[in-house]
Amino acid sequence: MKTIDVNLANRSYPILLASGSIGQIGDFLRERFAPDAPAIVITDENVARIYAESVEMTIADAGFKVLIYTIEPGEASKRLQTVSGIYDFLVKHKTPRGGIIIGLGGGVVGDVASFVASTYKRGVPYVAVPTSLLAHVDSSVGGKTGIHHGGEKNVIGTFYQPHLVVIDIDTLRTLPTRELLAGMAEVVKCAAALDEKYFSFLERNYQKVLRLHEAPLLHTVSRCCELKAEVVAQDEFDKGVRHVLNYGHTIAHALEASTGFRVFLHGEAVSIGVVAAAKLSRALGRCSDEDVQRQERLLRAIGLPTRLDKAMIPNLIDHLYADKKRVGNKIHFVVCTGIGSTELWPVAPEELMKHLSAL
Ligand SMILES: NC(=O)c1ccc[n+]([C@@H]2O[C@H](COP(=O)([O-])OP(=O)(O)OC[C@H]3O[C@@H](n4cnc5c(N)ncnc54)[C@H](O)[C@@H]3O)[C@@H](O)[C@H]2O)c1
Ligand SMILES: [Zn+2]
Repeated sequence: MKTIDVNLANRSYPILLASGSIGQIGDFLRERFAPDAPAIVITDENVARIYAESVEMTIADAGFKVLIYTIEPGEASKRLQTVSGIYDFLVKHKTPRGGIIIGLGGGVVGDVASFVASTYKRGVPYVAVPTSLLAHVDSSVGGKTGIHHGGEKNVIGTFYQPHLVVIDIDTLRTLPTRELLAGMAEVVKCAAALDEKYFSFLERNYQKVLRLHEAPLLHTVSRCCELKAEVVAQDEFDKGVRHVLNYGHTIAHALEASTGFRVFLHGEAVSIGVVAAAKLSRALGRCSDEDVQRQERLLRAIGLPTRLDKAMIPNLIDHLYADKKRVGNKIHFVVCTGIGSTELWPVAPEELMKHLSAL
């Protein structure tokens, strides 16, 4: 079992990472909570079908009362109606302040379940059990919760750290391939932005990782969690250095929004966004041709899209203005200054568009 500590003073928590750890959730809970606290597992239909029974069993065996609440899979579940349904369920079952909410699923379940945990009775303990690669390496670490509203993504949310994160890399065996590849885009982003050595490791080992060989997969997930944990520990509330995790995301978010969130999975858009950001950085003289080629080569070899269709560029502008990271009339674009390092480039959306069109 590998343990990564997320150091946030009195909100610190461990990420427990192993193969097969889902079967030990009951033990982990018993080590941390009194068994008179009920455990409420929030999951989605796809994940419930595969994992709900074993998770229910391990928690019940540890002496906790377990309740399971299942939501529909997909982004459309990230809305107030879903949250309200869960509140109704918690109230109906007289869930006390000590009740433990467990989010078992991908980023959608995690964002909804953690939002509920942060608001029900002004906050109850939250345990994250991520099951997609994106959730293993990104959404389960860092304490951002969120739901969509009024056509805007993640516009309602809180910062709320979990008490514990349990990552079982075996869950990736049942994840659809397209979702696995999309998660790899965040892995590559993380390495490209923060750690050259890790990036080289991925260049050498991506095939084994995609075939889910235990040792390289464990290293891939744990290194990404470590890097994200270090950044979050420096900037819990996303006011400064956490920007670095947004590498490739300015263009990715605009691309997703301009195609109605129907064409690309988030990770696929991130892959295109990373390559476009790298090319732009090269054009600005901030990194080398080789730096660009390495990122493009790796993402393409993984099987991700990397080309920003020129015809799509004019549609990006309105969505660049909507960028959450905009300060005044400038976007804080993350520029690559070599594999493993970045810097911020405050730029007006029109100027960014000019540079993109000239690539
Ligand atoms: N809070 C954060 O910091 C943060 C960071 C990044 C992304 N996110 C959010 O995460 C969400 C995307 O997460 P995602 O990519 O995990 O999507 P998701 O939760 O929709 O999961 C993808 C699909 O895979 C299925 N699935 C998940 N695990 C499975 C498994 N082990 N076996 C079989 N099927 C499985 C799900 O049912 C779903 O159909 C977005 O809403 C995004 O906003 C949040
Ligand atoms: Zn992302």
